[in-house]
Formats: sequence, structure tokens, C-alpha cells
Amino acid sequence: MAVLPRVQSFPGILMLACLFGVLVTATAAIHDKGKLVSLDGINYWVGGVSVSRLSSLATVNWNWTASDIVPLTVIRINTTTFTSGDLEETVAKFTASDDVFGRGFLEVIFAQYNGQRQGHIGSESTLDSHSNIGGNMLTFISSEYQPQQPSSLVHANLQKSLPSGPYFISPRTGDIFKAFRLYSDHQLAFTEGTVSDEMGGFSPLPAATEGAMTKSIAVPSRLYYTPTVEKPLAGLRCGVKDIFDLKGLRTSGGNRAFYDLYPARNATGSAIQRLIDAGVVIVGKMGTVQFANGDNPTADWVDFHCPFNPRGDGYQAPGGSSSGPGAGIASYDWLDIAIGSDTGGSMRNPGSLQGVFANRPSTGAIDLDHVLPLCHDIDTAGVFARDAEIWSTTMHAWYPNFTDHHKYPKRIFYQNSSFPRFDTDAGSLLEALVQKLETFLEAQREYVDIATRWKETHPNNAPNNLTELLNTTYAILTSVGQYRSLALPFYKDYAAEHNGRHPFINPGPLKRWEWGQDNGGDSAYNVALKNRTIFRYWWETEAYGKADPHTCSEGLYIYPYSKGETQYRNVYLTAPTEPPMGFKDGRISNMADVPDFVVPVGEVPYNSTISFTTEYMPVTMSFVAARGCDFMLANLIRDLQTAGILKPVSTGSRMYP
Ligand SMILES: *[C@@H]1O[C@H](CO)[C@@H](O)[C@H](O)[C@H]1NC(C)=O
Ligand SMILES: *[C@@H]1O[C@H](CO)[C@@H](O)[C@H](O)[C@H]1NC(C)=O
Ligand SMILES: *[C@@H]1O[C@H](CO)[C@@H](O)[C@H](O)[C@H]1NC(C)=O
Ligand SMILES: *[C@@H]1O[C@H](CO)[C@@H](O)[C@H](O)[C@H]1NC(C)=O
Ligand SMILES: *[C@@H]1O[C@H](CO)[C@@H](O)[C@H](O)[C@H]1NC(C)=O
Ligand SMILES: *[C@@H]1O[C@H](CO)[C@@H](O)[C@H](O)[C@H]1NC(C)=O
Ligand SMILES: *[C@@H]1O[C@H](CO)[C@@H](O)[C@H](O)[C@H]1NC(C)=O
Ligand SMILES: *[C@@H]1O[C@H](CO)[C@@H](O)[C@H](O)[C@H]1NC(C)=O
Ligand SMILES: *[C@@H]1O[C@H](CO)[C@@H](O)[C@H](O)[C@H]1NC(C)=O
Repeated sequence: MAVLPRVQSFPGILMLACLFGVLVTATAAIHDKGKLVSLDGINYWVGGVSVSRLSSLATVNWNWTASDIVPLTVIRINTTTFTSGDLEETVAKFTASDDVFGRGFLEVIFAQYNGQRQGHIGSESTLDSHSNIGGNMLTFISSEYQPQQPSSLVHANLQKSLPSGPYFISPRTGDIFKAFRLYSDHQLAFTEGTVSDEMGGFSPLPAATEGAMTKSIAVPSRLYYTPTVEKPLAGLRCGVKDIFDLKGLRTSGGNRAFYDLYPARNATGSAIQRLIDAGVVIVGKMGTVQFANGDNPTADWVDFHCPFNPRGDGYQAPGGSSSGPGAGIASYDWLDIAIGSDTGGSMRNPGSLQGVFANRPSTGAIDLDHVLPLCHDIDTAGVFARDAEIWSTTMHAWYPNFTDHHKYPKRIFYQNSSFPRFDTDAGSLLEALVQKLETFLEAQREYVDIATRWKETHPNNAPNNLTELLNTTYAILTSVGQYRSLALPFYKDYAAEHNGRHPFINPGPLKRWEWGQDNGGDSAYNVALKNRTIFRYWWETEAYGKADPHTCSEGLYIYPYSKGETQYRNVYLTAPTEPPMGFKDGRISNMADVPDFVVPVGEVPYNSTISFTTEYMPVTMSFVAARGCDFMLANLIRDLQTAGILKPVSTGSRMYP
């Protein structure tokens, strides 16, 4: 935020100092953290770190403005003659492709000539007098560019060349700053806005505008970025669940005591670093169910407020534990992708309740150093997107070790009991998709029953009933795993810092940790790992997760993830007592380490008890393939979208308005 206006707005302090005759001579450690400005009614944050500097300032007459910061547009030109028509065309292109740029930035133009031969401004007067550009335009041109009438165009140089787009310039120093548009996080999807420190780290965004309980999030111009082979994700705006460490920021894990106890992290984990290296722009940390467990809104969310699901009446649960990333992608056009984690459904659940693309990758898809653990053995990191193309591109650039497959399986495994009746709203949408999938793959679904298949083919050392084997496996892995890897060190560090005190923990994780200790602790954990291995081996050898040399996976196991159900956030639920038990479709990937990708299918109506009108909730379907077949699934789902069988979703109340 602007430091100068603050000083000016507190004259009382200055007077007090005078009255008491105090003379303060110490050097103040004042640090400019950027400025919040409004341009043509839109709020911008002017980055605190200068990205370039304009030379030849002395020859410039700035006296038309009293402002200490002036909007500027950099235009890179490769034609030898640049006319007002070219300028109009450029402005139209900028406006169409970027939500940060606006005509107000044309107050000063820096025309950067890219061409080989010497360039010319077609006619200076045409440029100046063009009615749509407005009055006080000052045009700088790079020295390679020769104006035909050099009088009022100013030659200047940039210390460091800049991509086209909107910026701000300080007339006093010539420093140039990136332009960030400020958006309101009205759905409470974020825990903290962030900006790059331009040195490989981050700082909290020191700016906020109006809004009840909301933060502002700063997004840079899209014009700064062009995807390349090395940076295929260049410019994608990305939010990150607040369990991933970012260098320079604290990590909350959805717990206030945790956020306060530990200092800003000194490293970014390798998963997020890979995304940054591929070009994504991190704009903030996003809401998480406390320590990535399973809190329900609203009562379980004691420490933080639960993010808002925009679908339907706006008062349906966002799902968890990657609640903020899911809510953000379903709410904000200005956000492209969001990163969450999935241990037992934490990507798929928010993806399904908010009707966006969400993946649980094969376990081990990416290293999870510098990420708060729920269970090291089954934690994974996934990505949310509204568009299968962006989603697939992100996965390909992100996960290092999967093989790309463009041939798809010809077997579809379909369990009757998983699907709703065809004569329901959700059932007919899902059935329509399954039929299109059959046509697309030139395959017929095969009816399967997992419990029966298990009874017939399970290994001798395992019980006849699959639920008996796996009923408590997930519960033990997460409750015991997190107790020893997160809770114990946290308790110890907190007590050391606070005279032996205990930190506040939400009822959900607290009960789960206690349950794990009461139900076998570490020895049960080892049994759980063994049970999981038994299932995984069976799934890949006897069931529906076999590998295939040509199509990666022998088949696809499909099941509905959400069926348009409501989950009102103003309903009082019973207090949490234990982790989730039992076996269901969603547990296959947790136990067999296979990918499980949720895709939006459609939306079904319901009568809202909030708005007293018809609203719509998402229907989604899961695709499960063999272990390591993530790119095959991503390619298939992208191709289904290209074929019009799946569709990108919109933000807001309706997925398909
Ligand atoms: C502003 O610039 C104009 C033209 O160079 C000059 O005539 C005028 O005196 C300047 N005004 C101030 C306040 O410096
Ligand atoms: C010149 O710029 C235009 C528009 O930015 C671009 O489409 C074209 O490829 C560029 N040509 C060269 C030779 O760089
Ligand atoms: C980061 O912090 C950790 C733990 O506080 C410390 O062990 C490590 O040396 C630090 N790394 C750097 C690069 O400062
Ligand atoms: C990917 O493969 C490389 C080389 O074998 C290995 O070093 C790395 O740990 C693997 N990464 C993951 C996430 O498995
Ligand atoms: C599933 O339903 C289909 C169609 O109603 C039926 O033909 C098939 O036998 C059922 N399969 C199982 C395993 O229940
Ligand atoms: C497995 O056991 C559970 C719990 O006892 C029971 O509800 C379920 O019906 C059994 N499943 C089969 C296929 O026998
Ligand atoms: C699963 O385990 C829980 C906790 O031990 C138990 O209460 C429940 O009856 C079990 N369910 C089945 C189906 O075995
Ligand atoms: C492991 O499987 C056995 C059955 O073989 C079951 O009794 C036990 O509850 C399971 N334990 C866990 C933690 O999965
Ligand atoms: C909503 O309520 C009306 C009137 O009670 C009823 O006719 C309609 O079927 C309901 N719609 C849904 C989607 O439940």
C-alpha cells in the first residue's frame, strides 16, 4: 500500500511530536510495499518491485501530471511503419485478451521496435489526434525507432526490455512497475493474497479494497506472458491450497495457531516450484479444511470460515478438504487453475460439489516435500480447472514421470449399484454420457460388481468380505499418520513457545487423531498398509486396474461422484466422532494408488430452501484407470471435450448458463 498517503493522512502524529518538542532523527526503516491506485474506476496494485527503468528522463516534460505514478502501455512493434490504425488494432487486441489492460493505460505509450530495419512512426500527428486515444498522451519510442517529425515524440530506452502490456511508471525515478488488477475474494476462497518478490519468493499482498470480510487478490496482466515449449503454462493464474509451503509466506493448514507459531517458510516445495518453473503465476493461498481432514460447514469450521460454493443458491457446502481451490475455480473467471491435495477425496469432493474438473493423480505422481501431511503414504496433489484443455495441459507440464498415451481403452467397467436410476434427472444425464463414451471408444460397457468379484478371486490370506478388509484402513492411515507427522511436533513446538499450552484444534481433526490412538495407533497403521497392499495387488491383477501396453490401462472404471444433491451449509450436523469408515468407489484410488478424475457432466434442479426458487447443482462422473495412466486419462477427457461430449463450465451459480 502507498506509504506516502498514509503519512499525509495522520497529521495529528506530526503535531504531537511538535507539541512535546520531540525531534526524531533516527533513520526510519521505511520500505515501499507498492501502491493501491484506482484507474478509470478499477483498483490496481502497483508492484513494489521495479521491473525496468526508463532512461533519458531529463528530456521528458512530466508537468501535465501531479501524480507520482502514471499509467503506461508498452507496445512491441515489428512493422516498419506504425500508424494510428495499428495502434487501434493493438488496443482492441489487448482489450479482448486481457482483463488488466484498459484505455487509461494509454496515457503514456512506450513503443518498442522489434524489427530488423529502422522503424518509423507513420505520422505522429495521426497518432496524437486519434479521437479514441484521448488528450494527454505522451509517446516514448525506443531509440531504434525514428519518428518522421521528431518534435513531440521522446526518445527513450528501457533499462530492461519488457513484454507488451499495461504498467505504471514513476515520473520521478523512471521506475516501471507491473500492473496488477485487484479482485475481491467475495467467496472467501483465499486465505492470503500473494505477489512474487521477483527474487524467487513471495510476499503477502499488502493491499485490500472494499468488501465485507473479503481480501483482495492481485492478478498481473495476461499480456506479459506467452506460452513457450519451456514454459507451457506461462501466465496461468493459480491459487494454492494453504498446506503447500511457498517461500516467504507462512502456511496455515487452516489453523490460526499453526499460522502464528511458525515463521514464513524459507522454501517452496518442489511440486509448486515445478508449476512456477513451467510459468504459472501464483496469486494466493487458498482455504483448506483444517489440516486437510474432513470438516463440514459451518459448525466444524471453528478456526476459519468455510469458503462459499457459488453453485445453486450459494449456500451449499463447497466440499473438502481442498475447499478454497474448488470454490475459487467455480467462482472466478480471473483464476485459471488451483492446486489442491487428495488423500481420501479432497480434490474429487470439491470438484464434484462445484462442478469443475478435478483429479486425484496416481499416488507418487509428484514429490510432496514442504506440504503439510495427512498421510505420507497416500497423499497426492491435483489441479482444478473449468476447461479440460487447460487442465490436461497443466497435468502434462506438472507430473514428471508419466508416459503419454493417445490410444484409449476399449473396456468400460460399469457397476449398476453405483449409478442412479435412468429415470432420475442425474441418472439420465449420466446415462447419456456413458452412451456417448461407448460410441466414442467404440466399446460396450461391461457390468461388474466389485464385492462379488472380490469374493470369487480374493487372495487366500484375506477375508471373504472386502469391506471387512478395508473398513478401517483409510481411517487408520490418516488419523495415525497425521497424529505422528503433524500433531505431535505441532503440540511440542506450541507448548515450548506458549508455556506448556495446547493449541486450538477444530473438533474434526481432534476427534480423528484421538480415534486413531484409541484404535491401535502405530501398530494398526502397519496393518492398514498391509491391507492396502493386498487390495492394490488384487485390483491390478484380478480386478479392473490392469495395465495395457497400448492403451496404458486395460479399461476404465467409471462411477458417479455427485448426483446433484444439496448439502446446505446452514444445517446443524452432529458433532464429528471418528474418521470415515467403509469401502466405496471413491476409496479405490486411495487403496490402489490409481488415478481418479472427476469431470462435470450436467446440472439438476432443486427447490432451494434459501432462495425459494429453482436452483441447480452439479452432476459429475469419475474416470478411474490403471496406475500411472494419468496422461491417458487427461488426453481422453480433453478429447471428449473437443468432441463436444464434455463441456467447459462457467463460473457462478450455473455451470452451463
Ligand atoms: C510545463 O511545461 C510547459 C511546456 O514545456 C511549460 O511552458 C510550463 O512552464 C511548464 N509548467 C510548469 C509548472 O513547470
Ligand atoms: C509481428 O507482430 C504480429 C502481431 O503481434 C505477429 O502476429 C507477427 O507474427 C509478428 N511478425 C514477426 C516477423 O515477428
Ligand atoms: C530453512 O529452514 C529450515 C528449518 O527452519 C532450516 O533447517 C534450513 O537450513 C533453512 N534453509 C535455508 C535455505 O535457509
Ligand atoms: C521421477 O523420475 C526421476 C528419475 O527416475 C526420479 O528421480 C524422481 O524422483 C521421480 N519423481 C517422482 C515424483 O516420482
Ligand atoms: C446391470 O443392469 C443391466 C441392465 O439392467 C443388467 O442387464 C445386468 O445384468 C445388471 N448387472 C449386474 C451385475 O447387476
Ligand atoms: C460385508 O460385510 C458388511 C458388514 O458386515 C455387510 O454389511 C455387507 O453386506 C457384506 N458384504 C457382502 C458382499 O457380503
Ligand atoms: C467399521 O468399523 C467401525 C469402527 O470399528 C465399526 O463401528 C463398524 O461397524 C464397521 N463397519 C463394518 C461394515 O464393518
Ligand atoms: C485389516 O484386515 C483385517 C482382515 O484381514 C481386518 O480385520 C482389519 O480390521 C484390517 N485393519 C485395517 C487397519 O485395515
Ligand atoms: C419444486 O416444487 C414444486 C412445487 O412444490 C414442485 O412441483 C417441483 O417438482 C419441485 N421441483 C424440484 C426440482 O424439486
